Amino acid sequence: MNKMILTLAAVMTMSFAACAQNKREKSMQTENKSLVVYFSATGTTAQAARTIADVTGGTLCEIVPQQAYTSDDLDWNNRQSRSSVEMNNPQARPALKDTKPDVAAYDVIFIGYPIWWDQAPRIINTFIESYDLKGKTLVPFATSGGSGISNSVKELRKAYPDLEWQDGKLLNRAGRNTVQNWVGDVVGKQ
Ligand SMILES: Cc1cc2nc3c(=O)[nH]c(=O)nc-3n(C[C@H](O)[C@H](O)[C@H](O)COP(=O)(O)O)c2cc1C
Repeated sequence: MNKMILTLAAVMTMSFAACAQNKREKSMQTENKSLVVYFSATGTTAQAARTIADVTGGTLCEIVPQQAYTSDDLDWNNRQSRSSVEMNNPQARPALKDTKPDVAAYDVIFIGYPIWWDQAPRIINTFIESYDLKGKTLVPFATSGGSGISNSVKELRKAYPDLEWQDGKLLNRAGRNTVQNWVGDVVGKQ
């Protein structure tokens, strides 16, 4: 009998927890309209972006360079490669392919990128300078080979001090639960 009561209590606790989780996810999806923009040269950041969009119910939008990056372009061992040349020049602004998200429709904009030389790729600057992002909550996220996100966010804050930057998060191999907990905190801070 005692065993039966215990089992029943455990089942009820589990279903309450599941409901709380669903409720939390639902509120993330309805209370704040979010846009999830990202640049991804080799697909890793794209995966993190898809998870954020899935969890938030936000709109996914890829930042596509007018000229795609080849593997030679991405060769960080070559000082003459396109990525090296761009990252050595703070003024470089690689052109965007014609993607026009309606940023005015969103309060929260997640901005994702791979870490390049401890920074956001210059195409992120092109994106930021192409839209009116004043008054939006900007939430950086990134993937990397091991570097953290903080230096890239520091540089973005320095370059665009009038914009509202959150600390952001490195999402290397982040599963849905990690993203869900983090997004919950972000939305809670609003
Ligand atoms: C040009 C270049 C520079 C990079 N610089 C760094 C770096 O400074 N620190 C780091 O941890 N990873 C660095 N990486 C690795 C990428 O950040 C990592 O592979 C990332 O997950 C790739 O994301 P993507 O597939 O969305 O392009 C660099 C990669 C490239 C192509």
